[in-house]
Amino acid sequence: MQNRSNEYRMSRPQTEPDLWWQEGVLYQIYPRSFFDSSGDGVGDLAGIISKIDYLSSLGISGIWLSPIYPSPMKDFGYDISDYLDVDPTFGDLSTFDRLLSELHSCGIKLIMDLVPNHTSDRHEWFIEASSSITSPKRNFYIWADPGPDGGPPNNWKASFGGSAWTYHEPTGQYYLHSFLPEQPDLNWRNPEVADAIRDVMRFWFDRGVDGFRIDVVHMLAKDPELKDDPPDNPFAHVLSRPEVHDYVRLLRATADEYEGRMLVGETFVLDVDYLLEFYGNGADELHLAFNFPFALCGWNARYMAKILERTLEKIPAGARPCFMFSNHDLPRHPRRFGEASIKPAAVLLLSLPGTPFVYMGEEIGMTGKTPPKERLLDPGGRDGARTPFQWNRSPNAGFCPPDIEPWLPVSDDYESVNVEVEETDPSSTLSLYRRMISYRNGSAALKRGSYSPLRIEDKLWVFTRKADDDEVLVAVNMSDEPADVDLSSAFANPLRVAVSSLRELEGSVISQDIQIPPNSALVAEPVASEASS
Ligand code: GLC
Repeated sequence: MQNRSNEYRMSRPQTEPDLWWQEGVLYQIYPRSFFDSSGDGVGDLAGIISKIDYLSSLGISGIWLSPIYPSPMKDFGYDISDYLDVDPTFGDLSTFDRLLSELHSCGIKLIMDLVPNHTSDRHEWFIEASSSITSPKRNFYIWADPGPDGGPPNNWKASFGGSAWTYHEPTGQYYLHSFLPEQPDLNWRNPEVADAIRDVMRFWFDRGVDGFRIDVVHMLAKDPELKDDPPDNPFAHVLSRPEVHDYVRLLRATADEYEGRMLVGETFVLDVDYLLEFYGNGADELHLAFNFPFALCGWNARYMAKILERTLEKIPAGARPCFMFSNHDLPRHPRRFGEASIKPAAVLLLSLPGTPFVYMGEEIGMTGKTPPKERLLDPGGRDGARTPFQWNRSPNAGFCPPDIEPWLPVSDDYESVNVEVEETDPSSTLSLYRRMISYRNGSAALKRGSYSPLRIEDKLWVFTRKADDDEVLVAVNMSDEPADVDLSSAFANPLRVAVSSLRELEGSVISQDIQIPPNSALVAEPVASEASS
């Protein structure tokens, strides 16, 4: 057993283990940037193990680990050369098993990243498939003859720019890659591909993992006729293809071979109705689908509420919405919403009717500035979201030894934005996330209650959440001005502020006429009557 320090407060009460993904708070770790225990400037699994007390102190129910598989790292792990092992940069299978068992012993579940749309061009399937046109694995990938002019078969574009086709000289055909040329797309029309990926899932489920986050799950099916995309819709060839749901149902059936496992999809689409199709009938496709329209509509209550309300209206009965503001692909939300949003956004995210994912570093208010040009590495320009986690004030923010160059530079705000400093400051962002997660874990209304809007303006969002006789008020003021709110239509009795982005307001009793300070948010609950207190 790892000998851990006691620097963090011990575990707060978490939610019911069986309801970990329905009612718990989940947390994304980008392993390259969490904690480097080996001293090579890159985070690793042993580093995560050494920080389990910290994870536990957040009150989270599970983590999603971005890919740790062997990879040439052209897309930092999303180009997988072996689905059944661990890249030596991160550790090995036995370190992985130790991580899993130590997380489980702290009541924290582990979700792996499943990348079924493409492999690395160094994966043995692609090496075999490209060895000859008659290779038994040829049909694992999508090949096409050159177009009439000898160029690519059509106008499809890759997500990182350029054509989605690369010519393979030795066999005289092009192969499809929705991302980098080093990430050839798998051919889901071939049932052997589904079988192979389902075996990958079983390999990890058998080891005890609790679920998968499924990379670009909405892109698995492509137009088999290879028609050109219209100029205004470069993704037409992957959108609205009904076959994709057959593939997702196969993935779900695999998860359902095991008890209590969960699939959350990277449904990176901006149309809510389309996104919700990936829940299937509520029991046969994804358990959760990241609500990208919500994350990307801007720090505007009217837009957000509209998307939330449409989600609640359209989601199949019994299914759970799923929210996040940041991940390893998006500029961190303080960059998109403004830094004044950091604390109110925490209260909002953790008060929504759905499963929230917190992206590592968000809980200390990391802002994710883009590193200097000469240090940029990512083909998709996402380096700012991936800078090393800030643990303390020492050089390299305690992420790696002071004399080692971290793989990406540490953000220059690390002396004030870090765990060590925030740990002892009750008004810090970290303290707020902990209080808010702890409160949520104990609140039936926040975990599973209904949602009713009370007042929505561009910069003001007031709503209630209610489960049986447990009811809370949530008020978020996104503007630089105070907002007056009359609560008399909703609450007959005064309320007590349970959690606020302004710590000094916590515990105060508020009447029906309240004023929400600028750029702040609060959760309040009715004051217990004399008789019941
Ligand atoms: C997803 C991942 C992203 C990766 C891409 C290709 O969008 O989140 O990081 O680059 O898929 O795998």
